[in-house]
Amino acid sequence: MKKKAIIILLSSTTLGTGSLAAQEYITVSTQNISLALKVSDTKKLEQVYFGNRLKNDEELKAASLPAASAYSTFGGTHTFEAALRAVQSDGNTSTELRYAAHRTEKRDGNIVRTVISLKDAYYALSVDLCYQAYQKENIIEQWVEVTNNQAKGVTLHNFASSDLSFSAADYYVTQFHGNWAEEMNMSQQHLDEGIKIIDSKLGVRSNQFTHPCFLLSLGNPATEDYGEVVGATLAWPGSFQFCFEVDPQKRLRVLSGINPYASSYTLEKGEVFKTPALLYTYSGNGVGEVSRRFHRWGRQYGIKNGSGERSILLNNWEATYFDFDEAKLVQIIDDAAKMGFELFLLDDGWFGSKYPRNSDNAGLGDWHTNTQKLPHGLPFLIEEAHKRGLKFGIWVEPEMVNPQSELYEKHPDWIITQPHREQSLQRNQLLLDLSNPKVQEFVFGVVDKILTENPGIDYVKWDCNRYVTNSGSQYLKPDRQSHLWIDNANGILGVMGKVSAKYPNVCFMACSGGGGRMDYGSMKHFDEFWISDNNDPLQRIFTQWGGQHFFPAIGMASHVSASPNHISGRSTPLKYRFDIAMAAKLGMDMQPVQMTEEEKAFSRNAISVYKQIRPTILYGDLYRLLSPYTHNRTSYMYVSEDKSEAVLFNFLVRKNINGDREAVLLKGLDADKKYRITEINRESDKWSRVSEYEGKTFSGDYLMTVGLRFGMYSEYESVVVRLSVP
Ligand code: GLA
Repeated sequence: MKKKAIIILLSSTTLGTGSLAAQEYITVSTQNISLALKVSDTKKLEQVYFGNRLKNDEELKAASLPAASAYSTFGGTHTFEAALRAVQSDGNTSTELRYAAHRTEKRDGNIVRTVISLKDAYYALSVDLCYQAYQKENIIEQWVEVTNNQAKGVTLHNFASSDLSFSAADYYVTQFHGNWAEEMNMSQQHLDEGIKIIDSKLGVRSNQFTHPCFLLSLGNPATEDYGEVVGATLAWPGSFQFCFEVDPQKRLRVLSGINPYASSYTLEKGEVFKTPALLYTYSGNGVGEVSRRFHRWGRQYGIKNGSGERSILLNNWEATYFDFDEAKLVQIIDDAAKMGFELFLLDDGWFGSKYPRNSDNAGLGDWHTNTQKLPHGLPFLIEEAHKRGLKFGIWVEPEMVNPQSELYEKHPDWIITQPHREQSLQRNQLLLDLSNPKVQEFVFGVVDKILTENPGIDYVKWDCNRYVTNSGSQYLKPDRQSHLWIDNANGILGVMGKVSAKYPNVCFMACSGGGGRMDYGSMKHFDEFWISDNNDPLQRIFTQWGGQHFFPAIGMASHVSASPNHISGRSTPLKYRFDIAMAAKLGMDMQPVQMTEEEKAFSRNAISVYKQIRPTILYGDLYRLLSPYTHNRTSYMYVSEDKSEAVLFNFLVRKNINGDREAVLLKGLDADKKYRITEINRESDKWSRVSEYEGKTFSGDYLMTVGLRFGMYSEYESVVVRLSVP
């Protein structure tokens, strides 16, 4: 952790500073929500309210509301899990925090930052609770900074980013979980008395099994449009933990942050431990509003270039895997240009000379072009793409190494492993130790060198195909081994930050064997993420549905791939595959020479339509209508900000012999506007499921009240409808 920096905020406006007396309040508010904190008689900081913003905050003082510690600490009378557990330099295991001061400042027209300083009653240990309130988006970002001012080290064993308390009749938590090729499944459970933990202990690729986000419904399970719900996500690529503890009085405390598992952290004098941020919101209007707030926030603040442009790309991974040469790639580039793609992405297998990367067992770490495969190097391919009007992208996995590589021969000391233990390989590879500054420099250098030597590269797919096991560092001292999990994650975040600062106009995709790295800590430096290696459209319906809860479509790459699908073996129509990919950020992973002329023509048309509807999907508001978890038909729609355009997607999850004629009630339209209905990606000019609506105009009022009714019957059937104000 760093020495404390003195930050001078030239552009901010101070709204309030001071030292409050007992019983005074601090509110952290956005346009629609607020979190109220109170200084108790003994100068402890308590949370007294979190919910919809009141018309008059002053009224919060009228009655005594249930109060809970705003940041609980181990020791004293606290008998539940604690947000902070620190062992002071003399061995005292307790911490007692008291309110010391606070300041609130306007960072700009939209962001208000509040920092509340707490100090231990005896020891020189201070804790700053930092809140950034995004007014328009209604998102609160919260993190904590712990500073040790004692002469000797203080060891932190627990260090939550936030400690939120709730007092409701019942609690239901929805988690997002899965595995490789089936990421982001959703399941909800009732919270009984005791503890429920959602966590990852993987360190890197930490979302392979669990994603760092949750929905918490208060009272009753929230639906899309009704009910009280809190949505939260941790901006951190490493191991995380959400701990939900219901006490005997049925009050719930939620601790969110870095996973404390095996991660005690010692701070020397003057050092500051800064936790990652928890991003959260509260809605009294169901889950849909939570998602739309995160999408707006994500586009504006959470994703690199989050409201910029995105290219429709063709990736050669499923087209060729490692088996390619220049001629094959040029043919793909040529076909891609003819179908209307905007970018060609060269995936794994282009590098390594002593140990050529012809499979996943060698070459990782040796980032120089394999001239046997590509005799004219990258510049030739970049030029071939540019000549045809395509941008060029490249795959890297700079945090990893195969034991069969020149890098490993030179630097066996750079890998994460424990002495006297058998090395553990995943996909034949090892992890580089990003707690080591030399390794950080190397990883930055890999990407930097490729991009400076090839200024024509517009896109980088940054992969990361394994997680941490044998968690030992050959760089960290024996008594600092438990720092590895945190230092490694901060190390990679630092490298990502340096790369994105130097290359703001290059588009970066975060990939991690699919959706293993999907978090707003990384996404600040990435334009999009690869949510899954599984492009099977039926699986994608569920994976994208889960991902949509916290991430906007602009960040979610989705590719059309071959049928039968290489992972699931399922055969599906090209239209179904295109429709689900067009519901996010469209791309393709297919070998064009294996496509029929008919398929190419369909693709050409779909790509040109996508170019027209792209702004609505990438920058619009998402409304979910029918869930694939509860209905056979799943439907959702995007509506442009000015409500003049919308796109409605419908997919059948399974065959329905008698037809599925459920009315689809649209949402988010302007009741007074008239919308013309046009089906897109039609397979036949003569007939379609929505023929009776085709070309007709309906008011937003009708569409939201009576809705559209059309049967869907067949397996792998989809209907996409465009609504435009003529
Ligand atoms: C990972 C990615 C794939 C592909 C391969 C290449 O599995 O998720 O998309 O890039 O690596 O080895």
